Amino acid sequence: MDMSRRYLVWSLSYAALGMALGIYMAASHNHGQLVTHAHVLMVGFVLSLVYGIIHRLWLDAPRRAVAMTQFVLHQLAAVALLAGLFMLYGGKAGEETLEPLLGIGSVGVLAGMLLMLYMVLRPGRARSAEPGAPDQAAA
Ligand code: HEM
Ligand code: HEM
Repeated sequence: MDMSRRYLVWSLSYAALGMALGIYMAASHNHGQLVTHAHVLMVGFVLSLVYGIIHRLWLDAPRRAVAMTQFVLHQLAAVALLAGLFMLYGGKAGEETLEPLLGIGSVGVLAGMLLMLYMVLRPGRARSAEPGAPDQAAA
């Protein structure tokens, strides 16, 4: 499976999960998980979709190991952050207990973003999304 499709599958799965949580919040009239809902949809659905689109439009044959590291890093960090938020706002554990998980998750999501920036900036590997534009990688 290519990287953009892999991101798309994860993105849509987060969308389903986030919407289910949103429907649960609306139906139960308990908006306690609002922050979790917002981040499942933003860090999970939206950011994974954006990364998938970047792969599709701007990255031409990025180094496989780097691309896979960036993907796994983003997903592991997102799952850690979202699980941490879910437990925090569900009152399942205290802030002191969850802080390491939330800290690792947050920094991991940021590191994933920086690694994506590196792949986009890497000379000769990013291509213009404009139709007909010369492909730098081929040059
Ligand atoms: C089945 C669809 C959805 C349902 C039933 C739903 C439900 C909700 C509910 C009940 C809240 C809490 C509102 C409040 O207490 O102020 C909320 C907040 C939020 N939702 Fe959704 N939502 C859905 C889809 C989405 C989608 C697709 C996104 C983004 C891509 C999204 C992003 C947000 C954000 C960012 C907030 C927080 C807003 C704030 O800070 O006040 N939601 N949603
Ligand atoms: C490193 C990853 C991130 C961390 C650690 C983080 C942390 C936070 C925190 C602490 C809040 C305040 C929650 C509160 O009201 O108590 C917040 C709110 C919010 N964040 Fe993030 N965030 C991250 C990524 C993102 C991204 C990538 C987006 C959008 C693309 C986003 C969208 C929002 C929105 C819409 C709110 C307001 C809704 C809410 O109150 O939950 N966040 N975030």
